Amino acid sequence: MTRGVAIARAVATFTGAVFLALAGCTSSDGSSTSSGSTSGSTCLDDLPGACPSTPPSYAKDVAPAIQASCTPCHAPGGRESSRLLTDYASAFANRGPSLNQIHACRMPPRDAPPLSDANRKILLDWLVCGAPNN
Ligand code: HEC
Repeated sequence: MTRGVAIARAVATFTGAVFLALAGCTSSDGSSTSSGSTSGSTCLDDLPGACPSTPPSYAKDVAPAIQASCTPCHAPGGRESSRLLTDYASAFANRGPSLNQIHACRMPPRDAPPLSDANRKILLDWLVCGAPNN
């Protein structure tokens, strides 16, 4: 599917390991992505083609976005406390699956408040840049 190819291409530019992880993820996620898109809201295929010349800052831009939209669940005591996104190390460790999930509009889940357009762009840009600690 086109989206999988786009993700694989973008991700291949920063790490082969993540490329492999994503390739597996994308095919298994395909069905839920398309069933999701029939439920009313659309998912933009807006994966950045390349890392912008100034990557978003983890500390200033990314951490607040994750805090607003991800750690309500991905933190101790949250709905998905087995996959933490509470600090740089955990966000970095989850960069491949997170890129896939955000791009496919699977995270945040449909029963949670959606990412703002600005935060979606911040997170996608940062992930395509390889999730720098900046
Ligand atoms: C309302 C709760 C909630 C919010 C908010 C949320 N998640 Fe999740 N997330 C879950 C649950 C529950 C799972 C496990 C089940 C699933 O995959 O749907 C999960 C799974 C994941 C996975 C693993 C998916 C896989 O199978 O590879 C990733 C990566 C992820 N979330 C990233 C994020 C990111 C990044 C955000 C913020 C943009 C976010 N999540 C926001 C509840 C949430």
